Amino acid sequence: MKEIVLALKGITKIYPGVKALDDVSLTFEKGEIHAIVGENGAGKSTLIKTITGAIAPTAGTIAFGGKEYQKLDPIEAIRVGIGAVYQEFNLIPYLSVAENIFFGRELRQGAFTDMKAMCAETEQILNELGVRIDPRARVKDLSVACQQIVEIAKSVSKEVKVLILDEPSAPLTNSETQSMFRIIKKLKAKGVTIIYISHRLEEIFELSDRVTVMRDSKKILTLDTGETDRKSLISHMVGRSLSDDYPRNESDCCETTLQARGLNTAYVNNITFDLRQGEILGFAGLVGAGRTEVARAIFGADAVTSGEILLFGKPVRIKSPADAIKNKMGLIPEDRKSHGVLLSLAIRNNITFSSLKHISRYGYLNKKKEDAVVHTLKENLRIKAPSVNQQVKNLSGGNQQKVVLAKWLATNCDILIFDEPTRGIDIGAKQEIYKLMRQLAESGKSIIMISSEMPELLGMSDRIIVMHEGRIVGELKKEEATQERILEMASGEAGGCGCNAN
Ligand SMILES: Nc1ncnc2c1ncn2[C@@H]1O[C@H](COP(=O)(O)OP(=O)(O)OP(=O)(O)O)[C@@H](O)[C@H]1O
Ligand SMILES: [Mg+2]
Repeated sequence: MKEIVLALKGITKIYPGVKALDDVSLTFEKGEIHAIVGENGAGKSTLIKTITGAIAPTAGTIAFGGKEYQKLDPIEAIRVGIGAVYQEFNLIPYLSVAENIFFGRELRQGAFTDMKAMCAETEQILNELGVRIDPRARVKDLSVACQQIVEIAKSVSKEVKVLILDEPSAPLTNSETQSMFRIIKKLKAKGVTIIYISHRLEEIFELSDRVTVMRDSKKILTLDTGETDRKSLISHMVGRSLSDDYPRNESDCCETTLQARGLNTAYVNNITFDLRQGEILGFAGLVGAGRTEVARAIFGADAVTSGEILLFGKPVRIKSPADAIKNKMGLIPEDRKSHGVLLSLAIRNNITFSSLKHISRYGYLNKKKEDAVVHTLKENLRIKAPSVNQQVKNLSGGNQQKVVLAKWLATNCDILIFDEPTRGIDIGAKQEIYKLMRQLAESGKSIIMISSEMPELLGMSDRIIVMHEGRIVGELKKEEATQERILEMASGEAGGCGCNAN
């Protein structure tokens, strides 16, 4: 008999108009890696927030460490050994790595915080995790991947019995994910119970001992991972069958819409490429290779020191994102939380925010037109919410991302740049996004897609540009692109981000 460390009994959580959890009972064993899967809005994050005490369940109990709780207090939860890395980052950007790790329990020497000791301990924790990050670096200057590693370090620096990871791999590259897995397995060997949420099913199979499927706020079932497969897991998750195919490109590429000629910024060098109408141009490379920075250069978000951008053959000066938008360009950024949505506004306003011009006449909003646009996108992308008037901050992580995508899909751009378009998005909605992207291309738009997901990059791109250390190192046609060739071109010393997992 395995030892049960944590037991949820009949957990229900009701928000106004939404039952986020419906009578969920679930047990977690000592030293197991227990995955939780389900579509966006299924209730995964809400479930773990009841375990960490971040929210109080409407009904049900949580048994942990010989006690039964109606509601766990967040401080009590940490004290008894429940640690969590949330989907939303919780780091303080202006503090250093060490100060973040010791936040609230700073090491002191007399009346002063002992920065030296905190840095030394931080270094030791990071070393154990096999990563090199400067403990004195400010968190805001780190890449998303490094910030994620600091989040994990922060949790494991405390004595944890249960460690919850809510989509920890979303911002990481394959090799970074692998080093995180090594960390997780080490913790498992020490008897720590790991609760692991991810939309990447291959990770679930690689890592977990058991997997619980959630759908529509309910627990559907728990399986031994070894006794199930991808197909049946998906069918439990979505309650319908799905094909794994990518929509094919039926259009011929024609006119060149955008030409980048020898662009230099502080982050990228000599960027030269063409983008054609009707195509999806993929950008491959390791995290830190400069793909996002190319997007920012084109979009006027970073200062271009030399080089030229031509739109439809004519040189243009794009000095700010506002200039780019005027030139009918759109950028869907990878860090959607800080750049993508207005959390306190409704889904409706977020979607139409950038496209007010098309749905207004003489300065008045055409409500009917707005309704049509908003409802179609909510439906196509399967944005899960009781109504389009729901505030975005109340949506699940994946559904917030869908709102950002919807916002740009509603605009009338000629050129759309998608930076990691399906990160954190569930498998059913991914397919819808692929379809929409292909439809946009076929309707004559040009699309740049930056992606670290190899199958998506290979499946969707008509051509692939590969970057390494701020430069373009090659271009592959769809027919010649394989995972091996891309990785070969993209590899070398891991560049740029200053945190090399080893
Ligand atoms: N504060 C809130 N107010 C109202 N509804 C909420 C609130 N928090 C969550 N919800 C709703 O509860 C449901 C479950 O959300 P949850 O964040 O648990 O989903 P999830 O499974 O983690 O999804 P994802 O894969 O997108 O992260 C969603 O429909 C969401 O909109
Ligand atoms: Mg979630």
